[in-house]
Amino acid sequence: MADKLDVMKIREDFPILHQEVNGYPLVYFDNGATSQKPRQVIEAITAYYSGYNANIHRGVHTLSQRATSAYESSREEVKTFLNARSTEEIIFTKGTTEGINLIAQTWGRHYLKTGDEIVVTAMEHHANIVPWQMICEESGAVLKVIPMDQNGELILEEAQKLIGPRTRMVAAIHVSNALGTINPVEELIAMAQKVGAMTLIDGAQAVPHFKVDVKKLDCDFYVFSAHKLLGPTGMGVLYGKLSNLEQIPPYQGGGDMIRSVSFSKTTYNDPPLKFEAGTPNIEGAISMAEGIRYWNSLDHAQVAAHEQDLLQYATERLKATGDYRIIGEAQNKVAVVSFLLNGAHPYDVGFILDKHGIAVRTGHHCAEPVMQFFEVPGTIRASFSFYNTRAEIDKMMDALAVTKRMLA
Ligand code: ALA
Repeated sequence: MADKLDVMKIREDFPILHQEVNGYPLVYFDNGATSQKPRQVIEAITAYYSGYNANIHRGVHTLSQRATSAYESSREEVKTFLNARSTEEIIFTKGTTEGINLIAQTWGRHYLKTGDEIVVTAMEHHANIVPWQMICEESGAVLKVIPMDQNGELILEEAQKLIGPRTRMVAAIHVSNALGTINPVEELIAMAQKVGAMTLIDGAQAVPHFKVDVKKLDCDFYVFSAHKLLGPTGMGVLYGKLSNLEQIPPYQGGGDMIRSVSFSKTTYNDPPLKFEAGTPNIEGAISMAEGIRYWNSLDHAQVAAHEQDLLQYATERLKATGDYRIIGEAQNKVAVVSFLLNGAHPYDVGFILDKHGIAVRTGHHCAEPVMQFFEVPGTIRASFSFYNTRAEIDKMMDALAVTKRMLA
């Protein structure tokens, strides 16, 4: 049907999905950890290394110019993808984690002082906690945490109380990797702007699921990783408003980030190169852009409808048995279900599911404070992508029934 996503056709683009694992057809439900890659992305990597591998920004020769042009047009692709104002606002990083560390270590080190406050949420990934703790230790700033409720939704009245005259930065996860909650980051950004604080949004789990517009959000910084969005590992993006990027000091020193160097004085390049010292991940940028092009080729309304159907179907099936506890039942969620099989450790469940060819993530999902809040050792997390199907959820439910008989 034309009004539905043609999932079977899409799956043909993902070679990895067509294999058996432990004697069963692979069911890949670990998309929150990393997405699978369409052949277009894999071919872009091969084309680069077999056709025009060369260093960029440094050579007059033809291959170098081709590589430079492909690298810089990837920046253009990302700029359009996020609806940034210019390519100068797009910095290429190793991933979400590096983007947050970059801001903590440049903006944070330069501007924070004793008594300043950084506000994060109770459902942050470690990547949006630890870099701030490190810079708090160094600067004397204090970390404040917006609490959540038992559904896994932020308590906005508490946010309102926490974000005040001492707040310098509000750093929030757009979509919780552990719970699937879509946070009302627009409201947090508005609260931060009222008190003149900066904002950083961790979009690692958002961009694979819905359109993000940084101009509309009006955040100061937005970060994501390519590998959760059909692209390669070791590649990511830091968006920053140009006026901010111009004011904050560079991150690492080295080639490409300078304008001129002498032993008496070095001057720095303009953004984005000011923040991209050394030979970057050229093939990463090129194949990330290919992943974005693939994503752009999909009908996003159909993707959203399909993923919400998977979320609802999996939730209903888990609830129907009475054997599972679902962790995180926010109104506004992406297609992620975190759950526990009553009486069983998540690792044991994950192990047995793997024996049935089913890949889920188990553990604390790099969000230990979330597990502490719900008083669980970890969860089993099924995170869906647009290429997953209801039939795969049925297979997981069958394997869970076997698991229950073995463990309960
Ligand atoms: N942050 C990734 C996850 O949620 C690795 O699985």
